[in-house]
Amino acid sequence: MSLTAIGNPFRPGAGHKPLYFAGRNWEKNEFRRLLQQTVILENLILTGLRGVGKTVLLDALKPIAMEAGWLWVGTDLTEAASLSERRLAIRLMADLAVVTSSLELPKVEVERIGFHQSQTPSNRLTFEAMASIYQETPGLNTDKLKAVLELAWECTKTDNNARGVVFAYDEAQNMSDKSDRDEFPLSLILDVFQSIQKKNIPFMLAAAGLPTLFPKLVEARTFAERMFRVVFLESLNETDSRDAILKPIEQTDCPIVLSDEWIAAIIEESGGYPYFIQFICREVYDAALQKIGAGHGPTVQIRNITRKLDTDFFAGQWAKATDRQRDLLGVIAALDGCNGEFTAHEVVEKSKKFIEKPFTASHVSQMFGSLSEAGLIYKNRHGKYSFAMPLLGRFIVRQADFGKSV
Ligand SMILES: Nc1ncnc2c1ncn2[C@@H]1O[C@H](COP(=O)(O)OP(=O)(O)OP(=O)(O)O)[C@@H](O)[C@H]1O
Ligand SMILES: [Mg+2]
Repeated sequence: MSLTAIGNPFRPGAGHKPLYFAGRNWEKNEFRRLLQQTVILENLILTGLRGVGKTVLLDALKPIAMEAGWLWVGTDLTEAASLSERRLAIRLMADLAVVTSSLELPKVEVERIGFHQSQTPSNRLTFEAMASIYQETPGLNTDKLKAVLELAWECTKTDNNARGVVFAYDEAQNMSDKSDRDEFPLSLILDVFQSIQKKNIPFMLAAAGLPTLFPKLVEARTFAERMFRVVFLESLNETDSRDAILKPIEQTDCPIVLSDEWIAAIIEESGGYPYFIQFICREVYDAALQKIGAGHGPTVQIRNITRKLDTDFFAGQWAKATDRQRDLLGVIAALDGCNGEFTAHEVVEKSKKFIEKPFTASHVSQMFGSLSEAGLIYKNRHGKYSFAMPLLGRFIVRQADFGKSV
């Protein structure tokens, strides 16, 4: 094979399936455990910082569920910010219809829907049939959706012999209750699943999203605290990082050999975060391929790759921050615990020593609000804060160093 024909085996992107999926065995086993439940007491939340691998892991759980006899439905809720209760219900029914539309409806239901429908009633559990049942059921949206899901299970268990249905929703942090509009889609989904699970219907939620997701669910309904097993994805450990770097190269049969120094440098620079590994490796691979092609040529420097990563991954969010917010982020990055949790009090104290114009407590708490909205930090359930992007602290320090050197 010619060298130019060898495609780059690394895929930095949003939700792009990696050529080799490294690690995450513990997380997969945790999901297998949840699939063994006959009465659903725990649903799954996959959470973690940007680019840590939530979407690709959620995708990898689908075959595991199917192998265990579960049906899998769901979608990406990126556009969910404006969902009303009714539209969320339509979303769920449309997703469910993919696996139920060939199932037969009980006769009594066909007659019930048929009585109200002008068109010939279908005797299958199609989206239209579910929408009619939703429409005809009296009460609130919660009652209507429950009626549809209960019936869906009646049909599913007899015709398909399925063990249950997993409802998988990515980017679930986008769902929001809106009291000013009297719309509570988030509460609706929690109420409905809690209620049907109490009736022993094996419909399980698997939601993936940024770390704001779980606090948001608990804020909507306190019982959400007990309803979910929260799996927080961290960066990959050293062995898994090595696999993520080396296996894709092995699989493409490419004559590139990475030295131990290079592997160590990639692990260090990426911090084991999957998106960063993919990004850095793609650059290293391209540069190495050129070098082999030319017999000699440019040797890439990791510093240059990091600079490119800064532009691609961080610069967009950073550009939105004001000078004063950048000062505050600089103070946070100087805290020993900046990669873990920090409080407003710690930031106020550090700012006294660190900058000329220190921040007051009220100023910090107000700016924490705007930085959270900008997606740079987030507040966890215990009232502490963390950076919302992996290795943001290092990026901020790099910006400060760059400022000094020009
Ligand atoms: N376990 C893994 N092994 C190898 N590569 C991975 C792994 N997990 C994720 N990746 C890669 O990392 C990148 C980011 O993954 P993904 O889009 O799933 O992250 P995410 O957490 O869903 O990000 P976001 O917060 O933006 O939704 C992708 O290029 C993906 O191929
Ligand atoms: Mg994602």
